[in-house]
Order: sequence, then C-alpha cells, then structure tokens
Amino acid sequence: MAGASTSGAAASPRPRGSDGPTVSEGAATADPQVIFTPSGRRGRVPAGTTVLDAARGLGVDIDSVCGGRGICGRCAVTPAFGEFAKHGITSAPSHLTDAGEIEAAYRAEHGLAADRRLSCTASLTGDAVIDVPPESQVHRQVVRKDLDARPFVLDPVVRLHTVDVVPPDLATPTGDLGRLFDALGAEWGLRDLHADLGVIRALQPALTRGDYRVTVAVHGGRDVIAVWPGFHDRAFGVAIDVGSTTIAGHLANLTDGTILASAGVMNPQIRFGEDLMSRVSYVMMHEGGEVELTTAVRKALDGLLAALANKAGIKRVEILELALVGNPIMHHLLLGIDPTPLGTAPFALAVDTAVELPASELGLRTHPGARVYVLPCIAGHVGADTAGVILAEEPHKATALTLVVDVGTNAEIVLGNRDRLLAASSPTGPAFEGAQISAGQRAAPGAIERVRIDRETLEPRFRVIGVDAWSDAPDFAARLETAGTGVTGICGSGIIEVVAELYLAGIITADGVVDGSFAARTSRVVADGRTFSYVLHAPGILVTQNDVRAIQLAKAALYAGIRLLMDQLGVETIDEVRLAGAFGSQIDPLHAMVLGLVPDCDLAHVRGAGNAAGTGALIALLSAAARREIEGVVRRVEKIETAVEPRFQEHFVEAMAIPHRTAANPNLERVLTLPARRGASAADRGADSRAARRRRRVEAATNAATTQPIAAIGATIATSATGDDR
Ligand code: FES
Repeated sequence: MAGASTSGAAASPRPRGSDGPTVSEGAATADPQVIFTPSGRRGRVPAGTTVLDAARGLGVDIDSVCGGRGICGRCAVTPAFGEFAKHGITSAPSHLTDAGEIEAAYRAEHGLAADRRLSCTASLTGDAVIDVPPESQVHRQVVRKDLDARPFVLDPVVRLHTVDVVPPDLATPTGDLGRLFDALGAEWGLRDLHADLGVIRALQPALTRGDYRVTVAVHGGRDVIAVWPGFHDRAFGVAIDVGSTTIAGHLANLTDGTILASAGVMNPQIRFGEDLMSRVSYVMMHEGGEVELTTAVRKALDGLLAALANKAGIKRVEILELALVGNPIMHHLLLGIDPTPLGTAPFALAVDTAVELPASELGLRTHPGARVYVLPCIAGHVGADTAGVILAEEPHKATALTLVVDVGTNAEIVLGNRDRLLAASSPTGPAFEGAQISAGQRAAPGAIERVRIDRETLEPRFRVIGVDAWSDAPDFAARLETAGTGVTGICGSGIIEVVAELYLAGIITADGVVDGSFAARTSRVVADGRTFSYVLHAPGILVTQNDVRAIQLAKAALYAGIRLLMDQLGVETIDEVRLAGAFGSQIDPLHAMVLGLVPDCDLAHVRGAGNAAGTGALIALLSAAARREIEGVVRRVEKIETAVEPRFQEHFVEAMAIPHRTAANPNLERVLTLPARRGASAADRGADSRAARRRRRVEAATNAATTQPIAAIGATIATSATGDDR
C-alpha cells in the first residue's frame, strides 16, 4: 500500500494551542479549583484556563473534533453552581468567563441547552464544579436494548480531527503532508502517522478549499485515511454478520455509537448450495467456483451497504469502517481464500488472527480509505461469528458456568467461564431452519411459530408470524385475513414446540415414534404409509414421522456437542444457557429443554441472546478495546473437534431420546411432569433397533471423518432422517 509516514513517540491527543495546563492538586493556592463529575477528578489550574484544557490536564474524558475552535459542540458541559460542602468549594456562575462570540454563534446556529457551556470557550476564573454529560464523553456507554446487546463502552477506532495547517512558504519547503502531520502532532499529540496515497492526492485540493483548515479521519491513532476541507464531523461504520443464509448489518455513527439503520439480505451463495458443505463441494467440483462464490457474497455485501446507507440517509462514501463476522467458510470465501481445506481433517484455517484490510480490496464501494476489520476465527468449524458471540455474551468474564449456543445449520457451542473457555461446532443440519421438514419453512409471515396441544383433547392451537392471536381466538380467522399471511408452514421455533408438545401429550414416545394407537382417540393422528403423522393444520400442515426424526437428529447432534465440552470440563451441570442466532433466540426455553436441545438447567437461567454474532460485530466496530479483548480471548479458547471425538457418537445416540435416554431432568421436572417412559412396546423395540442402525451409521461416518469431509456426518444424519426408520 502506498503512503507516507512520520516517526516519533506516540502521545495523547490534546486541544489546539495547548501544551496542557499546569494542574496542581495542592491545597492553598490562589488558582481556581475545578472538580469534574461524574469522574470526581479535581485539581487547580491557572486562572484563564479553558474548562477543556483543565479537563485534559486532569485526564477527564471530553470529546472534541474541532480541537477547541467552538465549531463541533462535542465538548459541551454543564457547570453546577452552589455550595458543595462535600468538595469544600463554592461554584458560582461568575467563576466562568461569559460566553463570547464563538459560543454565541454556535448556540445560535446549532442550539445549546441554556445550562450548557462549550468547555473549549469557557475559562475558569474561580472554583467550579463541572458535569460532563455522557454525550460529551469519548468513551461513553452504548446501550442497545433493542438488539439484546449488553452495554459497552465506545472506544472509537476512527477519530476525526480538525487542524489548521501552516501554509507553504518558499523559505521552508516542507511538503503539505509533512505540515499536516506537524499540525496533528502539535494540536492532537499524534505521532507515527501514516497516510494512504489517496489521502496524499486529496490533501492539496482540500487544503486549498479549506483555506488550510482540514479535517482528517485517523484510524487507530496512526493511519490518516480521509481528508476533507474545513470542518467535517460525519463518520459512519457498518457491522455485518455474514451468515450462510442471511447477511445482516447495522450502520452506526462512529462518533457516538448511534445505530442509524439495520437491514439484511439473503446470501446469494444459496444458489450454489443450501448448506456450507455443499458450497465447499461446489468449489471442489467446479474450476473457478471459489471466485463465483466470493463474487456473489461481496456483491451482496456491497448491496447491503447501499441499502443501509439509503435507509440511514447518508452517502456510502461516508462509511469509513466495517467490522465483519462469519463462520469459517463464509470468512474464507469473503476474503477470497480457498475454503476446501476446511472440508477435511485437519480442518485448517488459512488464518486464525483478526484480519484488517482496505474495504476496496473486497470491492466494497465506501470511502476509498475505509478499512475492514474481520474478527478472528477460532477453529476450522468455529468462526469469527463465534468470536462475535463471545464478545457479545462475555462467557469469558462469567463466574457461572455459561453455555452459549448459536444454532443454525451448524451449531456453534461455547462453554466455560472466566477460568476456562471451550468451543466446538456440531453438524445439526438445516432442520432447525425448516429444511428437511415436510411443512417446514423459514421464519416469515404465515409460519407457525408457537404451538400448544391440549393433553386431553389432543387438539392444537398455534400462532403464526404476523398475526397477534392464537388460532383458537374467536377472531383468528378475521385477523389472519387482515394480515393476509395465511398459514403457510412451520418455522424452526414452531417445529421445536410442536414436537415437544406431541411428546408431552404422549402422541410421540421418548424414542420419537408417532404412536399410531392415538389414531383411535383423535382424527389428528393419521396413517402415512407405514408410519403416522399428526395434522397440525388442515390441509397440508402435518408433522410426519420423518419430521420428528429430522428434529431428533439435529437436537442429538447439538446435545452431543455440548456434552463433549462438559466432559472436557468434567462437569455434569451448567449454570447459565444463552440461545443465540435468529432461530436460537426465538426458541422457547421450556420447549427446548423438553425436547432435550440443551442439558437440564434452571429455566430462569436460560434465555435468548438475539443475533449475538451481529452484536459482537457491532461492538468490535465501535470499540478498539473490544477488538484487543476478543483477540486475546480467542487465543485461549480450547477448541474441541467433534468430528474426531470418539465419544461424540455415544452422546449422539443417547441424546436421540426425548429429552434424553439417561440424563436426569431435575430442573425440568420441577415445572412439569414428563410422560412416564413406556415399557418395551413393539414401537419401542423397533425404535431401539433403528437406534442401533443409526448408531452404526454415525460411527461409520465419524470414524471416517478424519479423512473425509465432515459432510459425511451430515449425510448420515440426512440419510437417517429420510431413510429406513420404519
Ligand atoms: S471542542 Fe469543538 S466546540 Fe469545543
């Protein structure tokens, strides 16, 4: 990459024209004493020191873009007046200089609350107590309840700095870039600067247009990535979760962490294969296939950026930073790296550290200087999306043993606490997303998402996405018609609930057999060839024996992966469970536990975590400290490769039963009574022999997985789901 740089020691930014005030903490001097809240920092400064300079001298966090020119308004503070016995001072309005012309002009043009002052224009003439509101702090807390995101502290990676550059003169023929770097050093304490060729090209016109005042965007305190004439205070970033099915993003204001738009698009790679391994197979079997897949996902990302910018009412050229997460195959394909080594043992990642690169290298049309940060992958099947989940849910800081599961075509599993953290991936297949299910569909209006079955009448009631009523409500049909959705199928959360409810009603056995004897009790149970189905909604929406099998196989794979990690930690119970992902966060914890998706746990400690991977990307977008944190955590995560663990198959077969063949369910049985396990009926005996056949298939697949693609297990699962279970 072309560019230019200076050298020297790095230093902290400081406002224009200031070498920092002389701050003393001694008691009896004539200098005014200033106390900042909420930090509680206090000290004495010479009379006439601006509040901003005093704050910087005392290490108080106050924002600024304009460098004390009274233009940006980021430095607004609220002086507090009165007797402060606690602090031993009296703070009076007269202890600050009156608002001058600059502040009056700012107030007139942009508005400023009556009790606020610009700290860069207000000078101290006496003792004062100054409150710094959250919006004037650089490292303010970002709270996003709508995203299920934990509060986190903004730590901008990209910062804007306005400077006045000394005009050129014949006597001192320094280049413009050198004089820009000098100004950034003098006004903001920035050293070791570097600038891209694009910035160098744009600098002279910007200096001319701005009359030698320019604003620059500095990335990581070192790289000048953009320059604008005069004062400029707009900088935006985008966080994206590149999922194998959907690509979802948030566009945020980099200066204050506000999310301005969220949007998602389907991943166009689906046309090359529904699941990840079929896309890897496509690459293996088609020369140049990896280029097609890379092009498709990059185009989708570029389209998403356009949609987000449009929605937020900004220009895409104002996007300066991106943070991306994705599973290892998405990660590799997006970066143009061959994903085929991820398909066979030893499932080697091309890179397991974070990757930083110019956005232009991915063909993304943003600001030409924009950078992309890709979170680190953890292992061959545990990607940057899981790193995002960890960053969002912070199991590495928990004292309680915490399980975080991101359920999709593959389930990513993280288990541990602040002492030890393990991660694995388990091939659950696409059943949880509605694929392989006869009436399955993606979560969309019209999909059945909630189901209850009356234990006596065996009649169901349900809710569909887009209609705010249960199906047994008198006005359900009218509401359905108003919504115009119809009842179109069953989505993942609906499938979990209906199978769990069928089990609780006794219609399916612990081994997952739809009990045909119920056909005598209800017309809902109908013969379907040699097996039976349950009619959830006529016509056409049935839960078939194969549907139940597909769900059993998927949940058994998930449970077995979790159980492997528990074995590694030597634990029998888990304290906290977080269900992440579009599907995971919609699952009802009770039904998930009835079905045996996750080990028995206090239900009060099981909750959804939203799109935690996307939230993690957002945190990484807005916080340099979070990037350093996740890079450190990923290094100490212990990776467990489920495909080569001999105990996976044992756990898998045990977990085929509902909720589980052998594990106790003390927490679950505190809130409901599970059906009594029936004796060895003909159906059970048949199920046992089928389980033995499945076990042999899984053993064969897992034993082969060291030399064959992990898709072998998925293929076995698929075969079992549709094969000879009768
Ligand atoms: S620092 Fe910009 S207005 Fe005060």
